[in-house]
Amino acid sequence: MDIRIQPSILSADFANLETDFASISSADGIHVDVMDGHFVPNLTFGLPVVKRMQEISTLPLDVHLMIEDLDRWAVEYAKLGVFSVTMHIESCRDVVGTIKAVKSTGSRVGLAIKPATPISAIEPYLAIVDQVLVMSVEPGFGGQSFIPESLQKIRDLKAKLNALSLSTWLQVDGGINLENIEAVAATGADTFVAGSAVFTASDRAQSIVSLRDSALKGSLTL
Ligand code: DX5
Ligand code: ZN
Repeated sequence: MDIRIQPSILSADFANLETDFASISSADGIHVDVMDGHFVPNLTFGLPVVKRMQEISTLPLDVHLMIEDLDRWAVEYAKLGVFSVTMHIESCRDVVGTIKAVKSTGSRVGLAIKPATPISAIEPYLAIVDQVLVMSVEPGFGGQSFIPESLQKIRDLKAKLNALSLSTWLQVDGGINLENIEAVAATGADTFVAGSAVFTASDRAQSIVSLRDSALKGSLTL
């Protein structure tokens, strides 16, 4: 199984993004957390900043939208040419229409669920998205602890994807570190967001290698 490590730039130095992007060039992508201060209590950045990130990044940008009114805004992020746009099901009204609009730009599309949202909320759409994201912390802040109940959720979601013979990427975001990534990979996740675990490491490139190695080890038990 392919394993992907995507550092979250929520933990980066926003005054030195170009330097911080370069420090994680061995990653598989960069996870970009867009927060609007409404859907989540925190506020990060919006379209103009993601546009510049897309211009300077050599890695694919995986945009995680934690904002209201996705029906209007998701496609605008996709139009920037980013690699993928992931939307929270809790914040989308016309889910199928918005998925189609994002896909029509050439971007990959994902659906995310908060810790309290059951996987049944995204089940009807599994066949028409490229990735699903299980939040393993309450969205809004980096550096929180992994919620252990997420493991069963990932397991259940993986079982559903397998039952439908779908190769949809299964992403997990929040509290991922070297201590738990192997166990999380053993539940079927293949795409790992890690913010503080990468950015606080003394050697970021090495931390990405170590995370990938441990995740691979966990995935071999599947
Ligand atoms: C939280 C964000 C995460 C966060 C992860 O709302 O979606 O991407 O940056 O940070 P860590 O890995 O520190 O939990
Ligand atoms: Zn995120």
